[in-house]
Amino acid sequence: MIDSKVLNSPIRWAGSKKKILNEMLNAFKPDKDNYIECFLGSGVVLINVLKNNDKLKYKNFYVNDINSNIINFYKLLQKKPEYLIKEIMKLVTLYNDYDMTKKEEYYYKLRDQFNDEKDLDNKSILFYFLMKTGFNGVYRENKAGKFNVPFGRKEKIVVNEGYLEELSRFIKPVKFYNLDYNSFLDKMKKDGKIDNSFMYFDPPYLPDDLLVSQKQELYTNDTFDHRGFVNKIIELDGKYVMISMSDSKQADEIYGKFIKNSMKEILRTINPVKLFSSTEIAFTNYKIELKSKE
Ligand SMILES: C[S@@+](CC[C@H](N)C(=O)[O-])C[C@H]1O[C@@H](n2cnc3c(N)ncnc32)[C@H](O)[C@@H]1O
Repeated sequence: MIDSKVLNSPIRWAGSKKKILNEMLNAFKPDKDNYIECFLGSGVVLINVLKNNDKLKYKNFYVNDINSNIINFYKLLQKKPEYLIKEIMKLVTLYNDYDMTKKEEYYYKLRDQFNDEKDLDNKSILFYFLMKTGFNGVYRENKAGKFNVPFGRKEKIVVNEGYLEELSRFIKPVKFYNLDYNSFLDKMKKDGKIDNSFMYFDPPYLPDDLLVSQKQELYTNDTFDHRGFVNKIIELDGKYVMISMSDSKQADEIYGKFIKNSMKEILRTINPVKLFSSTEIAFTNYKIELKSKE
Protein backbone atom coordinates (compact mmCIF):
# COMPACT_ATOMS: atom_id res chain seq x y z
CA MET A 1 0.00 0.00 0.00
CA ILE A 2 1.19 3.47 -0.88
CA ASP A 3 1.56 5.55 2.22
CA SER A 4 4.51 7.83 2.07
CA LYS A 5 5.32 11.51 1.91
CA VAL A 6 4.21 13.09 -1.37
CA LEU A 7 7.06 14.57 -3.39
CA ASN A 8 6.60 18.04 -4.86
CA SER A 9 6.90 19.03 -8.46
CA PRO A 10 10.03 21.10 -9.09
CA ILE A 11 7.81 23.55 -10.97
CA ARG A 12 5.43 25.81 -9.09
CA TRP A 13 2.03 25.01 -10.61
CA ALA A 14 -1.50 26.10 -9.67
CA GLY A 15 -4.06 23.34 -9.09
CA SER A 16 -1.85 20.28 -9.07
CA LYS A 17 -3.10 16.94 -7.82
CA LYS A 18 -0.84 16.89 -4.78
CA LYS A 19 -3.46 16.77 -2.01
CA ILE A 20 -5.06 13.49 -3.02
CA LEU A 21 -2.07 11.89 -4.64
CA ASN A 22 -1.28 8.99 -2.32
CA GLU A 23 -4.89 7.87 -2.25
CA MET A 24 -5.06 8.15 -6.01
CA LEU A 25 -1.94 6.04 -6.48
CA ASN A 26 -3.55 3.28 -4.40
CA ALA A 27 -6.30 3.14 -6.99
CA PHE A 28 -3.86 2.85 -9.94
CA LYS A 29 -3.65 -0.56 -11.62
CA PRO A 30 -0.14 -1.85 -10.84
CA ASP A 31 2.09 -4.44 -12.56
CA LYS A 32 1.72 -3.21 -16.14
CA ASP A 33 4.55 -2.86 -18.63
CA ASN A 34 3.77 0.73 -19.55
CA TYR A 35 2.73 3.76 -17.54
CA ILE A 36 1.18 6.35 -19.87
CA GLU A 37 0.24 9.89 -18.83
CA CYS A 38 -0.74 12.37 -21.51
CA PHE A 39 -1.53 15.61 -19.63
CA LEU A 40 1.61 15.87 -17.52
CA GLY A 41 1.18 19.43 -16.13
CA SER A 42 3.56 19.94 -13.21
CA GLY A 43 4.65 16.29 -13.38
CA VAL A 44 3.74 15.69 -9.74
CA VAL A 45 1.81 12.49 -10.52
CA LEU A 46 4.67 11.02 -12.57
CA ILE A 47 7.23 11.88 -9.88
CA ASN A 48 5.23 10.08 -7.20
CA VAL A 49 4.60 7.11 -9.49
CA LEU A 50 8.37 6.82 -9.92
CA LYS A 51 8.89 7.16 -6.18
CA ASN A 52 6.41 4.36 -5.47
CA ASN A 53 7.42 2.15 -8.35
CA ASP A 54 8.63 -0.60 -6.01
CA LYS A 55 4.90 -1.18 -5.41
CA LEU A 56 3.44 -0.10 -8.75
CA LYS A 57 6.06 -2.02 -10.76
CA TYR A 58 5.76 -0.31 -14.14
CA LYS A 59 8.59 -1.05 -16.56
CA ASN A 60 8.38 1.90 -18.97
CA PHE A 61 7.14 5.46 -18.61
CA TYR A 62 5.68 7.50 -21.49
CA VAL A 63 4.48 11.00 -20.66
CA ASN A 64 3.26 13.94 -22.70
CA ASP A 65 2.04 17.53 -22.57
CA ILE A 66 1.14 20.02 -25.28
CA ASN A 67 3.00 22.71 -23.33
CA SER A 68 6.54 22.58 -24.74
CA ASN A 69 8.00 24.51 -21.79
CA ILE A 70 7.10 21.76 -19.33
CA ILE A 71 8.48 19.02 -21.52
CA ASN A 72 11.67 20.88 -22.42
CA PHE A 73 12.26 21.66 -18.76
CA TYR A 74 12.04 17.98 -17.79
CA LYS A 75 14.24 16.94 -20.71
CA LEU A 76 16.92 19.40 -19.64
CA LEU A 77 16.63 18.25 -16.01
CA GLN A 78 17.03 14.69 -17.26
CA LYS A 79 20.08 15.35 -19.45
CA LYS A 80 21.98 18.32 -17.97
CA PRO A 81 21.01 18.79 -14.32
CA GLU A 82 24.26 20.53 -13.25
CA TYR A 83 23.97 23.08 -16.01
CA LEU A 84 20.26 23.70 -15.35
CA ILE A 85 20.80 24.17 -11.61
CA LYS A 86 23.81 26.46 -12.11
CA GLU A 87 21.90 28.72 -14.50
CA ILE A 88 18.77 28.80 -12.31
CA MET A 89 20.90 29.78 -9.31
CA LYS A 90 22.39 32.73 -11.23
CA LEU A 91 18.91 34.16 -11.89
CA VAL A 92 17.59 33.41 -8.41
CA THR A 93 20.60 34.87 -6.57
CA LEU A 94 20.23 38.16 -8.42
CA TYR A 95 16.47 38.19 -7.79
CA ASN A 96 16.86 37.58 -4.05
CA ASP A 97 19.40 40.42 -3.75
CA TYR A 98 17.12 43.04 -5.31
CA ASP A 99 14.53 45.20 -3.54
CA MET A 100 10.89 44.76 -4.63
CA THR A 101 11.00 47.51 -7.30
CA LYS A 102 14.09 45.99 -8.91
CA LYS A 103 12.63 42.49 -8.55
CA GLU A 104 9.58 43.60 -10.52
CA GLU A 105 11.69 45.19 -13.29
CA TYR A 106 13.83 42.05 -13.44
CA TYR A 107 10.75 39.80 -13.70
CA TYR A 108 9.33 41.71 -16.68
CA LYS A 109 12.73 41.86 -18.37
CA LEU A 110 13.10 38.07 -18.09
CA ARG A 111 9.50 37.55 -19.18
CA ASP A 112 10.24 39.48 -22.42
CA GLN A 113 13.44 37.50 -22.85
CA PHE A 114 11.51 34.24 -22.38
CA ASN A 115 8.94 35.21 -25.01
CA ASP A 116 11.66 35.98 -27.58
CA GLU A 117 14.02 33.13 -26.65
CA LYS A 118 14.77 30.62 -29.40
CA ASP A 119 17.29 28.44 -27.56
CA LEU A 120 15.32 25.67 -25.80
CA ASP A 121 17.73 25.26 -22.87
CA ASN A 122 17.68 28.99 -22.10
CA LYS A 123 13.91 29.00 -22.42
CA SER A 124 13.58 26.14 -19.89
CA ILE A 125 15.71 28.00 -17.35
CA LEU A 126 13.64 31.16 -17.77
CA PHE A 127 10.42 29.10 -17.60
CA TYR A 128 11.39 27.68 -14.20
CA PHE A 129 12.23 31.17 -12.93
CA LEU A 130 8.98 32.73 -14.20
CA MET A 131 6.83 29.98 -12.67
CA LYS A 132 8.57 30.59 -9.32
CA THR A 133 8.24 34.37 -9.42
CA GLY A 134 5.02 34.91 -11.41
CA PHE A 135 1.57 35.33 -9.92
CA ASN A 136 0.32 32.14 -8.16
CA GLY A 137 2.26 29.65 -10.29
CA VAL A 138 -0.11 30.08 -13.21
CA TYR A 139 0.88 29.44 -16.82
CA ARG A 140 -1.13 31.63 -19.20
CA GLU A 141 -0.52 32.90 -22.71
CA ASN A 142 -2.22 35.68 -24.66
CA LYS A 143 -3.76 35.17 -28.10
CA ALA A 144 -0.37 35.73 -29.72
CA GLY A 145 1.07 32.84 -27.69
CA LYS A 146 3.12 35.07 -25.36
CA PHE A 147 3.41 34.21 -21.65
CA ASN A 148 1.60 37.08 -19.92
CA VAL A 149 1.35 36.27 -16.20
CA PRO A 150 1.98 39.33 -13.98
CA PHE A 151 4.67 39.59 -11.31
CA GLY A 152 3.96 37.60 -8.12
CA ARG A 153 5.73 39.92 -5.60
CA LYS A 154 7.60 37.04 -3.93
CA GLU A 155 10.10 38.22 -1.36
CA LYS A 156 12.50 35.29 -1.64
CA ILE A 157 12.91 32.33 -3.96
CA VAL A 158 14.23 29.12 -2.45
CA VAL A 159 15.67 26.45 -4.75
CA ASN A 160 16.32 22.99 -3.37
CA GLU A 161 19.33 22.06 -5.49
CA GLY A 162 19.72 18.61 -3.94
CA TYR A 163 16.09 17.81 -4.73
CA LEU A 164 16.53 18.84 -8.38
CA GLU A 165 19.57 16.53 -8.60
CA GLU A 166 17.59 13.69 -7.03
CA LEU A 167 14.70 14.25 -9.45
CA SER A 168 17.07 14.20 -12.38
CA ARG A 169 18.09 10.66 -11.38
CA PHE A 170 14.45 9.68 -10.79
CA ILE A 171 13.27 10.67 -14.26
CA LYS A 172 16.11 8.93 -16.13
CA PRO A 173 13.91 6.10 -17.51
CA VAL A 174 11.07 8.41 -18.67
CA LYS A 175 10.29 9.17 -22.34
CA PHE A 176 8.91 12.72 -22.71
CA TYR A 177 6.70 13.81 -25.62
CA ASN A 178 5.41 17.23 -26.63
CA LEU A 179 2.37 16.46 -28.78
CA ASP A 180 -1.35 16.97 -28.91
CA TYR A 181 -2.87 14.04 -27.00
CA ASN A 182 -4.35 12.56 -30.20
CA SER A 183 -0.95 12.27 -31.88
CA PHE A 184 0.66 11.03 -28.68
CA LEU A 185 -1.91 8.27 -28.18
CA ASP A 186 -1.78 7.32 -31.87
CA LYS A 187 1.97 6.90 -31.48
CA MET A 188 1.55 4.78 -28.34
CA LYS A 189 -0.93 2.58 -30.23
CA LYS A 190 1.30 2.27 -33.29
CA ASP A 191 4.28 1.32 -31.09
CA GLY A 192 2.22 -1.37 -29.32
CA LYS A 193 2.39 0.32 -25.90
CA ILE A 194 -1.34 0.38 -25.09
CA ASP A 195 -2.09 -3.32 -24.61
CA ASN A 196 -0.07 -3.82 -21.46
CA SER A 197 -0.49 -0.38 -19.96
CA PHE A 198 -2.05 1.68 -17.22
CA MET A 199 -3.12 5.09 -18.55
CA TYR A 200 -3.67 8.06 -16.28
CA PHE A 201 -5.36 11.23 -17.58
CA ASP A 202 -5.82 14.57 -15.88
CA PRO A 203 -7.39 16.57 -18.73
CA PRO A 204 -7.91 20.35 -18.70
CA TYR A 205 -10.63 21.74 -16.49
CA LEU A 206 -14.21 20.86 -17.39
CA PRO A 207 -16.57 23.73 -16.48
CA ASP A 208 -19.53 22.47 -14.48
CA ASP A 209 -22.25 23.77 -16.73
CA LEU A 210 -22.67 24.36 -20.40
CA LEU A 211 -23.13 28.08 -20.01
CA VAL A 212 -19.65 28.49 -18.58
CA SER A 213 -18.06 26.43 -21.32
CA GLN A 214 -19.89 28.43 -23.99
CA LYS A 215 -18.68 31.64 -22.37
CA GLN A 216 -15.18 30.22 -22.18
CA GLU A 217 -15.33 29.49 -25.90
CA LEU A 218 -16.31 33.09 -26.55
CA TYR A 219 -13.46 34.63 -24.64
CA THR A 220 -10.57 32.22 -25.06
CA ASN A 221 -9.28 30.19 -27.93
CA ASP A 222 -8.22 27.20 -25.91
CA THR A 223 -11.25 25.08 -25.15
CA PHE A 224 -10.71 21.39 -24.77
CA ASP A 225 -13.10 19.02 -26.53
CA HIS A 226 -13.95 16.53 -23.75
CA ARG A 227 -16.36 14.56 -25.96
CA GLY A 228 -13.68 14.08 -28.60
CA PHE A 229 -11.32 12.95 -25.84
CA VAL A 230 -13.79 10.32 -24.55
CA ASN A 231 -14.21 8.99 -28.10
CA LYS A 232 -10.44 8.70 -28.42
CA ILE A 233 -10.14 6.72 -25.17
CA ILE A 234 -12.89 4.35 -26.23
CA GLU A 235 -11.31 3.90 -29.67
CA LEU A 236 -7.94 3.06 -28.07
CA ASP A 237 -9.49 0.25 -26.06
CA GLY A 238 -6.89 0.22 -23.29
CA LYS A 239 -7.81 -2.10 -20.43
CA TYR A 240 -6.87 0.13 -17.52
CA VAL A 241 -7.71 3.81 -17.76
CA MET A 242 -8.20 6.44 -15.05
CA ILE A 243 -9.41 9.99 -15.74
CA SER A 244 -9.55 12.43 -12.86
CA MET A 245 -11.54 15.65 -12.50
CA SER A 246 -13.94 17.57 -10.26
CA ASP A 247 -17.45 16.27 -9.86
CA SER A 248 -20.10 18.02 -11.99
CA LYS A 249 -23.23 17.41 -14.04
CA GLN A 250 -21.23 17.91 -17.23
CA ALA A 251 -18.65 15.34 -16.11
CA ASP A 252 -21.41 12.75 -15.51
CA GLU A 253 -22.91 13.50 -18.88
CA ILE A 254 -19.71 13.32 -20.90
CA TYR A 255 -17.85 10.59 -18.97
CA GLY A 256 -20.95 8.52 -18.11
CA LYS A 257 -19.59 5.45 -19.94
CA PHE A 258 -16.95 4.97 -17.25
CA ILE A 259 -17.21 3.84 -13.64
CA LYS A 260 -17.43 6.88 -11.38
CA ASN A 261 -15.31 6.68 -8.22
CA SER A 262 -15.48 9.33 -5.54
CA MET A 263 -12.06 10.23 -4.19
CA LYS A 264 -13.75 10.83 -0.84
CA GLU A 265 -14.78 7.16 -0.72
CA ILE A 266 -11.30 6.06 -1.78
CA LEU A 267 -9.81 8.21 0.93
CA ARG A 268 -12.23 6.97 3.57
CA THR A 269 -11.25 3.36 2.87
CA ILE A 270 -7.54 3.92 2.79
CA ASN A 271 -7.10 6.63 5.36
CA PRO A 272 -10.18 7.05 7.59
CA VAL A 273 -8.56 9.66 9.81
CA LYS A 274 -7.74 12.10 7.01
CA LEU A 275 -10.49 14.70 6.54
CA PHE A 276 -11.35 15.62 3.01
CA SER A 277 -14.04 17.86 1.60
CA SER A 278 -13.26 18.15 -2.09
CA THR A 279 -15.45 16.79 -4.84
CA GLU A 280 -12.68 15.11 -6.83
CA ILE A 281 -13.70 12.03 -8.78
CA ALA A 282 -11.92 9.46 -10.90
CA PHE A 283 -13.55 7.76 -13.87
CA THR A 284 -12.16 4.30 -14.59
CA ASN A 285 -12.91 1.41 -16.91
CA TYR A 286 -11.88 -1.13 -14.24
CA LYS A 287 -13.13 -1.81 -10.75
CA ILE A 288 -10.85 -0.26 -8.15
CA GLU A 289 -9.83 -2.65 -5.38
CA LEU A 290 -8.62 -0.93 -2.26
CA LYS A 291 -6.89 -2.26 0.81
CA SER A 292 -7.94 -0.41 3.94
CA LYS A 293 -5.30 0.66 6.42
CA GLU A 294 -6.38 -1.81 9.11
C1 LIG B 1 -5.12 19.69 -15.45
S1 LIG B 1 -3.54 19.90 -16.18
C2 LIG B 1 -2.63 18.52 -15.59
C3 LIG B 1 -2.17 18.76 -14.15
C4 LIG B 1 -1.28 17.69 -13.57
N1 LIG B 1 -1.95 16.42 -13.37
C5 LIG B 1 -0.72 18.16 -12.24
O1 LIG B 1 -1.11 17.65 -11.17
O2 LIG B 1 0.11 19.07 -12.25
C6 LIG B 1 -3.84 19.59 -17.86
C7 LIG B 1 -2.63 19.63 -18.78
O3 LIG B 1 -3.07 19.25 -20.10
C8 LIG B 1 -2.28 19.94 -21.06
N2 LIG B 1 -3.05 19.94 -22.32
C9 LIG B 1 -4.09 20.72 -22.68
N3 LIG B 1 -4.56 20.40 -23.89
C10 LIG B 1 -3.80 19.37 -24.33
C11 LIG B 1 -3.79 18.59 -25.53
N4 LIG B 1 -4.67 18.81 -26.50
N5 LIG B 1 -2.87 17.60 -25.66
C12 LIG B 1 -1.96 17.38 -24.67
N6 LIG B 1 -1.91 18.10 -23.51
C13 LIG B 1 -2.82 19.07 -23.34
C14 LIG B 1 -2.05 21.31 -20.45
O4 LIG B 1 -0.88 21.90 -20.98
C15 LIG B 1 -1.95 20.98 -18.94
O5 LIG B 1 -0.60 20.88 -18.56
